[in-house]
Amino acid sequence: MINRWSTLRVDDADVMDLGVIDTPSLGRHADALASRRPGPRELFQRWDAQQWKIADIDLEKDIQEFRTRVPARLREELERLIYTFIIGEYTGTDLLSPVLLGCPEEWDLLFVTTQASDEAKHTELMFRIGRELLGVDETPEAMLRTAWEMTEPAHRELSLIEGEIMGDVVNNPSDYEAWLRGVTLFHMVNEGVLAVSGQRLIVNLLGRARILPGLRSSFAALTRDESRHISYGCHALRLGLQEGHREAVEDVLERTLPLAMELADFSARTGDALWQLQIQGARRVFAHVGMSETFTDHVFTSLLTQNKSDKETAHVR
Ligand SMILES: [Fe+2]
Ligand SMILES: [Fe+2]
Repeated sequence: MINRWSTLRVDDADVMDLGVIDTPSLGRHADALASRRPGPRELFQRWDAQQWKIADIDLEKDIQEFRTRVPARLREELERLIYTFIIGEYTGTDLLSPVLLGCPEEWDLLFVTTQASDEAKHTELMFRIGRELLGVDETPEAMLRTAWEMTEPAHRELSLIEGEIMGDVVNNPSDYEAWLRGVTLFHMVNEGVLAVSGQRLIVNLLGRARILPGLRSSFAALTRDESRHISYGCHALRLGLQEGHREAVEDVLERTLPLAMELADFSARTGDALWQLQIQGARRVFAHVGMSETFTDHVFTSLLTQNKSDKETAHVR
């Protein structure tokens, strides 16, 4: 086995081997892919070569360890994060159809269809982890209801904006700017800031503790799939900016990023680490899409101020 870091290790690894790759390598891999600016055709080919099966993920050791070796606080934290992904992956599957409807070119449609198949697989993997690891003997509907009840107000507010933005695409699929707004929210904020940071946090937490190999491999596989989705979103938005739709993209980011960042405050234990990962994710997608320096400075200054005042409020409480 090669121990040196190479993007080839992440590209070609089998699903259970993905779990032993360290988080910085996973992060560098996603970043290296986006920097090369692949288009939808190349991303489609990567999807074709990087298939993995839910059945290949072995959770047997994890099921034993989860109740016996995992400290109670880490277990609670993982349960909360898993519930976030149960709802996140399901909502992703649900909300991708408007993006499919408005795809501007043939290869966009083919790539986004592969993404829809990924999101369906991610959702079923989360349901399986819910059933087998958390021992939640529930139907998907009941599991989603429980997950939804655990969400914070910022999450609900974000969902309302999501419904509005995606509703506009459904009502007018040939409106390119409405579609770009949908892609900004879906690929840049939900995936490039939120999903990838949560996945990295979990891989990090488990890697340090050297436990739960199946869970770690599951989230590493999600991260590798996510690198293709985010690269696609960056490609689509770069073209959108070139075609003069900068304001629409900026507007969605201004409305949704502060809410996305608020979600990191959810946990006292890992909130800071998650916040940092989210900020790094946001900086990466801003650079890959080509957001202007002025807008980037403006957004990150206000996010840092928001974080400082949230902390001060928490302190007073
Ligand atoms: Fe996903
Ligand atoms: Fe995704």
